[in-house]
Amino acid sequence: MEETCRGNPDPHHLQGRRNYNRMSRWYDLFAGSERRFTEAGLRLLDPRPGERVLEIGFGTGHALVGLARAVGEAGQVDGIDLSPGMLAVARRRLARHGLAGRVNLQLGDATRLPHPEGHFQAALSSFTLELFSAQEMSVVLAECLRVLQTGGRLGLVALAKEDRPAVRLYEWFRQRMPRVIDCRPIFAEQALQAAGFRLTATRHQAMWGLPVAILVGQKP
Ligand SMILES: C[S@@+](CC[C@H](N)C(=O)[O-])C[C@H]1O[C@@H](n2cnc3c(N)ncnc32)[C@H](O)[C@@H]1O
Repeated sequence: MEETCRGNPDPHHLQGRRNYNRMSRWYDLFAGSERRFTEAGLRLLDPRPGERVLEIGFGTGHALVGLARAVGEAGQVDGIDLSPGMLAVARRRLARHGLAGRVNLQLGDATRLPHPEGHFQAALSSFTLELFSAQEMSVVLAECLRVLQTGGRLGLVALAKEDRPAVRLYEWFRQRMPRVIDCRPIFAEQALQAAGFRLTATRHQAMWGLPVAILVGQKP
């Protein structure tokens, strides 16, 4: 497994990196409820043996394990995350599962993916796209589109923006504690389509009353 650091993140992402470094050791204790949605996203994305797959914002690496198992020995998984703390936790997890050799982890910023055009058959973003501003989100999705092959799939698991009391309450807290609550519910389907993806699978679930969109978009 290779680990490289590609330049410095944008200055306004540095705070995010500090936050996730601080959280990395405890993250699994309070983010466990998100895992079943990520697993549903993995099932919907359906990574296949031999595929090259990218995860952006891999966090503590749970989905990397599922991706690496699915693509098998003939496949390759790449992951990019801004936080060295998260990378260290993910690296230990992969080693424990004997999967380190199948996964290439990099420190970097999803707004500037280091991978070549058309390199991947599939990509995954789970509870990560919501961290970006609306403008950056379209940059991240354009980067995902660029690095996918024609016909390649992007799996997206994200808090969805809907007119519901739980979403309004969440956003009220988020405005007051942006460092603690950094995910911003998004219009996930619209974002994928506006970026040029064709929606091929859509699931809607809920976490503590908050809507979660689980989607697959295909590069036409
Ligand atoms: C909310 S966590 C989700 C982690 C994982 N995908 C999951 O579902 O548990 C968001 C992750 O995105 C990473 N991240 C934040 N900003 C990023 C950026 N600009 N580029 C790449 N990764 C980023 C964080 O370090 C963190 O690991």
